[in-house]
Amino acid sequence: MAILLPGGAGYIGSHTAVELLNDNKEIVIIDNFSNSNPSVLDKIKKITGKDFKFYEIDYTNREELEKVFKENKIDSVMNFAGYKAVGESVQKPIEYYYNNVCGALILLDVMRKYGCKKFIFSSSATVYGNPEIIPITEDCKVGGTTNPYGTTKLYIEQILKDLYTSDNEWSIGILRYFNPVGSHESGLIGEEPQGIPNNLMPYIVRVANKQLEELSVFGNDYDTPDGTGVRDYIHIVDLAKGHLKMLEKLNNENNGLFIYNLGTGTGYSVLDMINAFEKSTGETVKYKIAPRRPGDIATCYADPTKAKNELNWKAEKGIEDMCKDSWNYIVKNK
Ligand code: UD1
Repeated sequence: MAILLPGGAGYIGSHTAVELLNDNKEIVIIDNFSNSNPSVLDKIKKITGKDFKFYEIDYTNREELEKVFKENKIDSVMNFAGYKAVGESVQKPIEYYYNNVCGALILLDVMRKYGCKKFIFSSSATVYGNPEIIPITEDCKVGGTTNPYGTTKLYIEQILKDLYTSDNEWSIGILRYFNPVGSHESGLIGEEPQGIPNNLMPYIVRVANKQLEELSVFGNDYDTPDGTGVRDYIHIVDLAKGHLKMLEKLNNENNGLFIYNLGTGTGYSVLDMINAFEKSTGETVKYKIAPRRPGDIATCYADPTKAKNELNWKAEKGIEDMCKDSWNYIVKNK
């Protein structure tokens, strides 16, 4: 029985693939390399010393997707094939709704046809919009997303809830990621944003690496201890391990729909991140204070208690590992 990973060559998918293989799970990866590189596949094999099946297909192509289900015994699916660039989603809403929402629908429909009803979905803290309480618990109100990317996450969550209501033989895990950073300690796989990065950590490492001139700190007048935005950064390997714990729960319980925050429970400001990066790497990050970025909120961090109690999962790596491993990936891939 295999676990299917659409988007398994991407940032979160590849790190989860490594953890699954290390745990002796059988996986099948499909990817169209729209935001990833074919060389990642060999790197996953190199890190784990394990092999897996791969199909270069677009997960929205129903016929090709069905072929994968016909040729393999797929028991569960972890979907990493979503587009994720916030700014781009504003420019290309049709592409985002099509790939993320239609893609998820096609995938779920094909899964149903082949009797596979175990699904783990990569959601995001973005579904909480401007959160009503901090730290954020899973029962906080969702909605008020500020861009099409975030709205696709919200819509897919709703589709999954409706699907489970209609047929409670499904086992569904919704994982709301906070801010994934870092990379595998080998430095072989990591985050490869296309063009100029939007997210903080990829920008910091490129400034330190002199690929970008200086970081703009978007706003220092928020209602936070130092005025800059506060987020819950989580090491990608911890995040990947959360998927194994989620799968374990889906395998142990016969069915159900479960929602968990995957975060550390600690908030760091933009200036905290710059300081932590400089301290743990010895590099300098040139920055200036710039106006607020539209759509940003002041503070967002998780209450991760539910995942700890019910999944027996908790983030182990701290801010120093996150910074060191983000830097290590850049240094190793110069
Ligand atoms: C963003 C997305 C979120 C997505 C997440 C993925 C928005 C509004 N939200 O979250 O939907 O799930 O990425 O990781 O874009 N910052 C700077 N300078 C920069 C970049 C960022 O000061 O060049 C600041 C931001 O203002 C924010 C913090 O750093 O306070 C983190 O930003 P970012 O890494 O983009 O993540 P989020 O905005 O939290």
